[in-house]
Amino acid sequence: MKNSIVVSAPGKLMLFGEHSVVYRKPCIVTAVEQRMRVRVIRTVGSEIELIAPEVGLKNFKTKITTPIKKLPKSAKFVFAAIQNFYKKYKISSGLKIETHSDFSSKFGFGSSSAVTVCVVKALGEIFDVQVTNKELFDIAYKAVLAVQGVGSGFDIASAIWGGTLYFVGGGKVIRPINTKGLSLVIGYTGIKADTATLVRNVAELYKTERAQIGNIFSSITGIVEDAKKALLKSDFQKLGTLANINQGFLDALGVNTRELSNLIFVARKAGAYGAKLSGAGGGDCMIAFAPVNERNKIRTAIQKNGGKDLPVKTGAEGVRIEK
Ligand code: PMV
Repeated sequence: MKNSIVVSAPGKLMLFGEHSVVYRKPCIVTAVEQRMRVRVIRTVGSEIELIAPEVGLKNFKTKITTPIKKLPKSAKFVFAAIQNFYKKYKISSGLKIETHSDFSSKFGFGSSSAVTVCVVKALGEIFDVQVTNKELFDIAYKAVLAVQGVGSGFDIASAIWGGTLYFVGGGKVIRPINTKGLSLVIGYTGIKADTATLVRNVAELYKTERAQIGNIFSSITGIVEDAKKALLKSDFQKLGTLANINQGFLDALGVNTRELSNLIFVARKAGAYGAKLSGAGGGDCMIAFAPVNERNKIRTAIQKNGGKDLPVKTGAEGVRIEK
C-alpha cells in the first residue's frame, strides 16, 4: 500500500458522432495532451479533503458518506468516484485530494471525466487493488452517471485508453484507431455549455420527432464509419467533407449556435478541409480539419472572429501514474 500517489489523464475532443453516441451508436474521440493531474494522499479518519483551485475549492472537507446532491458541483465527481470505489472494494479511509488541470474546465475538454478516472486509478494504487481498464471504466462511468444522469461514457474511455478511439455508447466497443498526421485547429467560442441540458433537449426532440431524429442518428452512424476508414487512410480531405456533413446534422438536432457557426464558416473559408462543432454544442469548441500549411491562416481567422484558438496535440497517452 502506498500513502500518496499522483495520477494524470488526458482531456478529450469529440471528432465525430456526438449525441447519437448517447443512443448506443458509435463515435470517434481523440485524447489531447492537456492533462488533469490528481494527487491522492491517504489520511486517518473518514473525511475527504479536496483542494481544487481551478474550480474554486480551496479547502473543502467533509465526510465521505455525504450525499452527492449536498456537495458543491465541483466536488461531486471526486466523491462519486470514491464512494463507488469504496463500495465495490469494501474500503473506508480518509483522503486528501488535490487536482490541477492544464486546461480550463470551461473548454469542454472533459475535466470531470478525467478527474473521475484519475481518482479511481489512484485509489487502486493506494489500496493495492488490481483494477483493469474495463473495471476502471465501469466504476468511473457509474460515478459520472450518478452525478450527471446522462452520458455515453466516451470521455471516460478517452481518459483511460488515450489515443484516438472508436467508441460505441455505453462502452460496448472501445477500439483504438491508428491515426497519422491528424491536423486540427480548435476554436473556443467563450461560451460555457451544459452537456446534460443539451442531451436532454435532444432527447425531447427525439420523443416528438422519432422518425426524423432516428434517421439523423443513422446518418451520423454512417458518417462515423466512413470517418474511421478515412482516418486509417489519413484522407483528411474526406474527413473535412464528413465533418461538414456531420455539422449539418448537429444543426438539425438543435445544438448548433450562431457563435459556433460563425467560427466554423470562417475556418472553412480560411482553408480548412471542413469543420464542425465538437461535443454537446451550445457553445464550447469547434474543430477544423486543417491542411498543415493553412493552420496559421485558420487560427488567425478564428481569433479575428471572436474565438479563442486552443493549441492541442491529439492522440495523447491515457491515464498514467506520475510518481
Ligand atoms: O460536452 P462534451 O464535450 O462532454 O460532449 C458531449 C457529447 C455527447 O454525445 C453530447 C454526450 C455524451 O455523453 O456522449
